[in-house]
Amino acid sequence: MKILAISGSLRKVSSNTVLLRAAIKLAPPGVEMSLYEALGDIPPFNPDLDDLDNGIAPPSVLALRAALQAVDAVLISSPEYAHGVSGVMKNALDWLVGSGEFSGKPTALINASPRSQHAHASLMEVLRTISFTNVIEGLLTVPLAGRKVDEDSLAADPDVAPVILKTIQALVQAAQPQASTEA
Ligand SMILES: Cc1cc2nc3c(=O)[nH]c(=O)nc-3n(C[C@H](O)[C@H](O)[C@H](O)COP(=O)(O)O)c2cc1C
Repeated sequence: MKILAISGSLRKVSSNTVLLRAAIKLAPPGVEMSLYEALGDIPPFNPDLDDLDNGIAPPSVLALRAALQAVDAVLISSPEYAHGVSGVMKNALDWLVGSGEFSGKPTALINASPRSQHAHASLMEVLRTISFTNVIEGLLTVPLAGRKVDEDSLAADPDVAPVILKTIQALVQAAQPQASTEA
Protein backbone atom coordinates (compact mmCIF):
# COMPACT_ATOMS: atom_id res chain seq x y z
CA MET A 1 0.00 0.00 0.00
CA LYS A 2 1.61 3.22 -1.14
CA ILE A 3 0.44 6.75 -0.33
CA LEU A 4 1.83 9.95 -1.80
CA ALA A 5 1.69 13.00 0.46
CA ILE A 6 1.51 16.35 -1.33
CA SER A 7 1.86 19.69 0.44
CA GLY A 8 0.49 22.79 -1.23
CA SER A 9 3.10 24.96 0.50
CA LEU A 10 6.66 25.57 -0.64
CA ARG A 11 7.66 27.16 2.68
CA LYS A 12 10.62 25.54 4.41
CA VAL A 13 8.77 25.63 7.73
CA SER A 14 5.36 24.88 6.28
CA SER A 15 2.79 23.72 8.82
CA ASN A 16 1.04 21.69 6.10
CA THR A 17 4.29 19.93 5.21
CA VAL A 18 5.03 19.25 8.89
CA LEU A 19 1.57 17.71 9.18
CA LEU A 20 2.33 15.40 6.27
CA ARG A 21 5.77 14.54 7.68
CA ALA A 22 4.05 13.56 10.94
CA ALA A 23 1.65 11.39 8.91
CA ILE A 24 4.63 9.64 7.32
CA LYS A 25 6.00 8.93 10.80
CA LEU A 26 2.63 7.53 11.88
CA ALA A 27 2.07 5.31 8.84
CA PRO A 28 1.33 1.81 10.12
CA PRO A 29 3.33 -1.24 8.99
CA GLY A 30 2.54 -2.16 5.41
CA VAL A 31 1.83 1.45 4.45
CA GLU A 32 4.63 3.15 2.57
CA MET A 33 4.17 6.92 2.60
CA SER A 34 6.39 9.40 0.82
CA LEU A 35 6.38 13.16 0.50
CA TYR A 36 6.31 14.71 -2.96
CA GLU A 37 8.77 17.56 -2.68
CA ALA A 38 9.04 18.86 -6.23
CA LEU A 39 5.82 20.82 -6.61
CA GLY A 40 7.85 24.02 -6.97
CA ASP A 41 9.55 22.60 -10.08
CA ILE A 42 6.28 22.22 -12.02
CA PRO A 43 6.15 24.95 -14.69
CA PRO A 44 3.06 27.10 -15.23
CA PHE A 45 0.43 24.99 -16.95
CA ASN A 46 0.55 25.36 -20.71
CA PRO A 47 -1.48 22.93 -22.82
CA ASP A 48 0.87 23.65 -25.74
CA LEU A 49 3.63 21.83 -23.82
CA ASP A 50 1.45 18.83 -23.02
CA ASP A 51 1.38 16.22 -25.79
CA LEU A 52 -0.71 13.57 -24.06
CA ASP A 53 -0.91 11.32 -27.14
CA ASN A 54 2.86 10.97 -27.29
CA GLY A 55 3.60 11.23 -23.55
CA ILE A 56 5.58 14.43 -24.01
CA ALA A 57 5.50 17.05 -21.24
CA PRO A 58 8.03 18.90 -19.10
CA PRO A 59 10.17 16.37 -17.13
CA SER A 60 8.90 17.60 -13.73
CA VAL A 61 5.33 17.03 -14.89
CA LEU A 62 6.13 13.52 -16.15
CA ALA A 63 7.79 12.82 -12.79
CA LEU A 64 4.70 13.98 -10.88
CA ARG A 65 2.45 11.83 -13.08
CA ALA A 66 4.73 8.81 -12.56
CA ALA A 67 4.77 9.39 -8.80
CA LEU A 68 0.97 9.41 -8.76
CA GLN A 69 0.70 6.33 -10.97
CA ALA A 70 2.96 4.45 -8.55
CA VAL A 71 0.71 4.95 -5.50
CA ASP A 72 -2.65 3.61 -4.33
CA ALA A 73 -3.79 6.78 -2.58
CA VAL A 74 -2.96 10.44 -2.01
CA LEU A 75 -2.92 12.66 1.08
CA ILE A 76 -3.05 16.40 0.43
CA SER A 77 -2.51 19.26 2.87
CA SER A 78 -2.62 22.71 1.34
CA PRO A 79 -2.72 26.26 2.69
CA GLU A 80 -5.28 28.86 1.66
CA TYR A 81 -4.07 32.06 0.02
CA ALA A 82 -6.56 34.89 -0.56
CA HIS A 83 -9.48 32.48 -0.21
CA GLY A 84 -8.06 30.15 -2.87
CA VAL A 85 -5.96 27.00 -3.09
CA SER A 86 -2.24 27.75 -3.23
CA GLY A 87 -1.13 28.53 -6.77
CA VAL A 88 1.41 25.71 -6.92
CA MET A 89 -1.20 23.16 -5.94
CA LYS A 90 -3.77 24.37 -8.46
CA ASN A 91 -1.10 24.58 -11.14
CA ALA A 92 -0.04 20.98 -10.53
CA LEU A 93 -3.65 19.81 -10.63
CA ASP A 94 -4.18 21.60 -13.95
CA TRP A 95 -1.40 19.43 -15.45
CA LEU A 96 -3.23 16.33 -14.17
CA VAL A 97 -6.67 17.07 -15.64
CA GLY A 98 -5.97 15.53 -19.05
CA SER A 99 -3.61 12.77 -18.01
CA GLY A 100 -6.03 11.30 -15.47
CA GLU A 101 -3.77 10.03 -12.66
CA PHE A 102 -6.32 11.17 -10.06
CA SER A 103 -9.18 9.33 -11.71
CA GLY A 104 -10.70 7.08 -9.04
CA LYS A 105 -7.65 7.57 -6.80
CA PRO A 106 -8.62 7.62 -3.11
CA THR A 107 -7.57 11.01 -1.79
CA ALA A 108 -7.84 12.61 1.63
CA LEU A 109 -7.54 16.29 2.42
CA ILE A 110 -6.18 17.46 5.71
CA ASN A 111 -5.31 20.99 6.66
CA ALA A 112 -3.25 22.92 9.16
CA SER A 113 -5.69 25.82 9.52
CA PRO A 114 -9.39 25.77 10.43
CA ARG A 115 -9.79 29.10 8.60
CA SER A 116 -9.07 27.51 5.23
CA GLN A 117 -12.70 26.79 4.33
CA HIS A 118 -12.57 28.44 0.90
CA ALA A 119 -9.45 26.58 -0.22
CA HIS A 120 -10.91 23.30 0.98
CA ALA A 121 -14.17 23.81 -0.93
CA SER A 122 -12.27 24.90 -4.02
CA LEU A 123 -9.84 21.97 -3.85
CA MET A 124 -12.74 19.56 -3.45
CA GLU A 125 -14.43 21.02 -6.52
CA VAL A 126 -11.24 20.68 -8.59
CA LEU A 127 -10.65 17.11 -7.40
CA ARG A 128 -14.29 16.19 -8.06
CA THR A 129 -13.85 17.51 -11.59
CA ILE A 130 -10.89 15.20 -12.13
CA SER A 131 -12.78 12.22 -10.70
CA PHE A 132 -10.87 11.43 -7.54
CA THR A 133 -12.38 9.20 -4.88
CA ASN A 134 -13.22 11.25 -1.82
CA VAL A 135 -12.17 9.63 1.41
CA ILE A 136 -13.11 12.21 4.01
CA GLU A 137 -16.22 14.36 4.09
CA GLY A 138 -15.65 17.88 5.39
CA LEU A 139 -12.51 19.66 6.39
CA LEU A 140 -10.25 17.61 8.61
CA THR A 141 -8.14 20.14 10.44
CA VAL A 142 -5.22 19.97 12.80
CA PRO A 143 -4.89 23.65 13.81
CA LEU A 144 -1.20 24.47 13.65
CA ALA A 145 -1.16 28.17 12.77
CA GLY A 146 1.12 30.07 15.11
CA ARG A 147 2.34 26.88 16.78
CA LYS A 148 5.99 25.93 16.60
CA VAL A 149 5.78 22.25 15.89
CA ASP A 150 7.92 19.57 14.37
CA GLU A 151 6.84 16.25 12.98
CA ASP A 152 8.10 14.30 16.00
CA SER A 153 6.06 16.28 18.51
CA LEU A 154 3.01 16.18 16.22
CA ALA A 155 3.30 12.44 15.74
CA ALA A 156 3.45 12.06 19.55
CA ASP A 157 0.62 14.54 20.26
CA PRO A 158 -2.35 12.65 21.74
CA ASP A 159 -4.83 15.06 20.12
CA VAL A 160 -3.20 15.08 16.69
CA ALA A 161 -1.87 11.57 16.14
CA PRO A 162 -5.28 9.82 16.26
CA VAL A 163 -6.70 12.26 13.67
CA ILE A 164 -3.81 11.61 11.29
CA LEU A 165 -3.93 7.88 11.88
CA LYS A 166 -7.68 7.77 11.25
CA THR A 167 -7.09 9.57 7.95
CA ILE A 168 -4.41 7.12 6.86
CA GLN A 169 -6.64 4.20 7.83
CA ALA A 170 -9.52 5.64 5.79
CA LEU A 171 -7.19 5.97 2.80
CA VAL A 172 -5.95 2.41 3.20
CA GLN A 173 -9.50 1.10 3.44
CA ALA A 174 -10.59 3.01 0.34
CA ALA A 175 -7.54 1.91 -1.61
CA GLN A 176 -7.59 -1.75 -0.60
CA PRO A 177 -10.20 -3.08 -3.05
CA GLN A 178 -8.49 -1.12 -5.80
CA ALA A 179 -5.06 -2.54 -4.92
CA SER A 180 -6.36 -6.10 -4.81
CA THR A 181 -8.27 -5.90 -8.13
CA GLU A 182 -5.18 -4.44 -9.80
CA ALA A 183 -2.94 -7.22 -8.40
C1 LIG B 1 -0.45 35.95 1.04
C2 LIG B 1 -1.20 35.13 2.03
C3 LIG B 1 -2.56 35.03 1.95
C4 LIG B 1 -3.27 34.26 2.87
N1 LIG B 1 -4.62 34.16 2.74
C5 LIG B 1 -5.31 33.38 3.61
C6 LIG B 1 -6.71 33.22 3.48
O1 LIG B 1 -7.35 33.78 2.61
N2 LIG B 1 -7.34 32.42 4.36
C7 LIG B 1 -6.66 31.76 5.38
O2 LIG B 1 -7.28 31.01 6.11
N3 LIG B 1 -5.33 31.89 5.51
C8 LIG B 1 -4.64 32.68 4.67
N4 LIG B 1 -3.30 32.81 4.80
C9 LIG B 1 -2.61 32.09 5.90
C10 LIG B 1 -2.01 30.78 5.43
O3 LIG B 1 -2.95 29.96 4.78
C11 LIG B 1 -1.49 30.05 6.64
O4 LIG B 1 -0.44 30.80 7.19
C12 LIG B 1 -1.03 28.65 6.31
O5 LIG B 1 -0.88 27.96 7.51
C13 LIG B 1 0.28 28.64 5.55
O6 LIG B 1 0.58 27.29 5.29
P1 LIG B 1 2.05 26.72 5.48
O7 LIG B 1 2.44 26.91 6.93
O8 LIG B 1 1.90 25.26 5.15
O9 LIG B 1 2.95 27.43 4.55
C14 LIG B 1 -2.57 33.58 3.90
C15 LIG B 1 -1.18 33.70 3.98
C16 LIG B 1 -0.50 34.45 3.06
C17 LIG B 1 1.01 34.54 3.16
